[in-house]
Amino acid sequence: MTDALLSQRPTAVRAAADDALPEVDPALAARCRELAARGIVLLRNDGALPLRPGAEVALFGRTQKDWIAVGYGSGGDVNPPYVTNLLDSLREGGAVAVDEELAARYESWTARHPADPGEEWGRWPRHFPEMPLEESAIRAAAERCGTAVVVIGRAAGEDRDNVLEEGGYHLTGEERSLLARVGAAFAHMVVLVDTGNVIDLSWIDEFEPAAVLLAWSGGMEGARAAADVLTGASEPGGRLTDTIARRYESHPSAGHFGHTEATEYVEDVFVGYRHFETFAPGDVLFPFGYGLGYTQVDLGEVTVTVSGEQASVQVTAVNTGQRSGSEVVQVYLGAPDGTLGGPARTLAAFTRTPQLAPGESVRLELAVDLAEHARYDDSGASGHRSAWVLEAGEHRLFVGPDVRRAVHVGSAHVPSLRVVRQLEEVAAVRPEHAFERSVLRRDDEGRALSGRETVPTARVDLPQRILDRLPETIPPAEDPTARFEDVTAGRLDLDRFVAALSPEELASLAYGDIVMDSPLGVPGNAGTLGGVTEALRARGIPVVTTTDGPSGLRLAATAALLPCGTALASSWDPAAVQELAALHGAEMVAKGSDMLLSPGMNIHRDPLCGRNFEYFSEDPLLTGEMAVAVVAGVQSQGVSACPKHFAANNQETARTVNDSRVSERALREIYLRAFETVVREARPRNLMTSYNRINGVWGHYHYDLVTTVLRGEWGYEGNVVTDWWMRMEPDPHFSALRDSAYRVRAQVDVLMPGSKVHFGTTRDDAIEDSLARDGGITLGEVQRTARNVLRMLLERETGAGRRG
Ligand code: BGC
Repeated sequence: MTDALLSQRPTAVRAAADDALPEVDPALAARCRELAARGIVLLRNDGALPLRPGAEVALFGRTQKDWIAVGYGSGGDVNPPYVTNLLDSLREGGAVAVDEELAARYESWTARHPADPGEEWGRWPRHFPEMPLEESAIRAAAERCGTAVVVIGRAAGEDRDNVLEEGGYHLTGEERSLLARVGAAFAHMVVLVDTGNVIDLSWIDEFEPAAVLLAWSGGMEGARAAADVLTGASEPGGRLTDTIARRYESHPSAGHFGHTEATEYVEDVFVGYRHFETFAPGDVLFPFGYGLGYTQVDLGEVTVTVSGEQASVQVTAVNTGQRSGSEVVQVYLGAPDGTLGGPARTLAAFTRTPQLAPGESVRLELAVDLAEHARYDDSGASGHRSAWVLEAGEHRLFVGPDVRRAVHVGSAHVPSLRVVRQLEEVAAVRPEHAFERSVLRRDDEGRALSGRETVPTARVDLPQRILDRLPETIPPAEDPTARFEDVTAGRLDLDRFVAALSPEELASLAYGDIVMDSPLGVPGNAGTLGGVTEALRARGIPVVTTTDGPSGLRLAATAALLPCGTALASSWDPAAVQELAALHGAEMVAKGSDMLLSPGMNIHRDPLCGRNFEYFSEDPLLTGEMAVAVVAGVQSQGVSACPKHFAANNQETARTVNDSRVSERALREIYLRAFETVVREARPRNLMTSYNRINGVWGHYHYDLVTTVLRGEWGYEGNVVTDWWMRMEPDPHFSALRDSAYRVRAQVDVLMPGSKVHFGTTRDDAIEDSLARDGGITLGEVQRTARNVLRMLLERETGAGRRG
């Protein structure tokens, strides 16, 4: 599918103003506001924040009015009942006196120069031009007000990576001039950056604002949340989920991002802080995990108890400041170099303290199981190729409020290298695509250096593996009277029901309805699956309606616009995210959505990735915990979630063709890790593959990722869907398979939506065709996929597997 085709997709119809009233649960809106505030990161504060009650404040920057509530594309295309803006939110709160003279100028100018993102898919503006403001107006405002708040806005999105240009990753000349002139005129300049993606912040050292807040696109309540934080009604609860580097160019992925044909993941496991803390601590402006509050919470009285590979860190957090507040306590592991080498620190556990009154303290316990942080040997250097291994030696534990300030508090000792789990090689780099990856080396003084080694390449005979593991065929016993209700009522075994289905019915279960906005679902849906043909419905097979995600329900109807993924993750508060997701699940039930295409859980490999706002972090542990919270919350309401995009979907440029070339070690330790967590801990009923290739194979054809790893190693039993449409391809190994037969062999169960032609009315006949051919797909494989889909439907009907 081409991006031109994608651009034809229907966008949800904008709700008319008067049908937009009471359609969002006030409890959901309140939770959005709370969580958006908990995700706002205070990067610097010389005491200018919170704003003093009644303070006269001059607001600069058009984003005060044209608030950017979410990024672009399917992940944010919601019809919210309203979107707050900062100017009105500050007025509404009444805690400070907004300078109305300046506000009037911005209001009239923005009304005449609307911030219109336009209709063209993937061409959305990343910023909107600033209102020209003469020096005298700035000076006059400074005479009226002691404090200025300058608001900078940025957005990126699906099919819209950020770029290293002014107005993209960098400030525009207008923005720089505003900061320089406002900074010179005012006693206190506060800068608030409203963005979904990390942008350049090196100007903080240049313009030296009194305070800087990073407000991730916070959804419809995001500006109210920002006003709450500015005025101190809420604490800035956010902690960075990504490292902020001084320069984009020092990111280890720089130069290896945004290529059209293929991207070599040369940094290997040294993604984000794993690189910076190991090799280049001086390149960091703000470290991973960092964020200030309005009070001071000190960590002390640390006790570390170690029993074999289990460590427990107990720590007391005391609020020594003047205001109520909380802190995020983070535990990092520093494993010995051992045979494989690795990052200096990896996040091993975290918890958010409760809200502490001044003087109040809390004792916390964080558990670390070393085996969960083992390394994957893809080269054989440890003597155990294709195994998770725990290196011998001292595993150091660090505790602190961010990765940099975490201090060594104790160690666990592993007497000799232990194989945690022997696996088999999957999805390794193809020999013809070998490249040099980053590895840990040391100089004579023991300092870490980023060395290079050739990535290990594939040795497995994949076609033989597939043939050796073909599933048994359930002896067909076609029975037109067998009904799905009998299965849900427990009167008929699922396998017997599958046996009763004709090959055509089985194949139909492997396709969604042929269009988005399917007439079988509520208006504006992303597509339907399950009982998409009359024959299937006659069997009692229900229709499942899917909707995007992640930042709200993308429907024709009005729905809540939630804080984006990065905002949620910046709260480091999975319990609160789960509560929000449960309210969101209830909204799904109310609005007719059965399956949410969320959470987005790709790793922030590079700050320019346009969809980073939908995703959580550069760290897989934090990503996994957040995804568990979303899935558990949504599925507690009986509806289901669909984590995406599996896997290594880390750029939007050429996303349907780009080949993510990545070592098996980095795949497993970084890019698959969070998916494993969500599968094991939250049992999502669905999972979506990615558009891109992973070491030469498109996500929707990837037998090793979907069958060997996801289902085989992790025990996933749910339904797997493609990302929307897929590239039709012959199976390179089996000449009797192509397109959907190739896909079903991998156990990518459902083509979404089900058409071969984007907006046409055909679905491919590849399954039926292949079934009829020698050496084609087997009936057992088609039954297996039908069973995966039906198992998901069964859980939907019976509520089995719900987690709350
Ligand atoms: C996106 C998915 C989304 C789907 C349906 C695709 O283009 O990559 O994340 O869920 O469209 O809108």
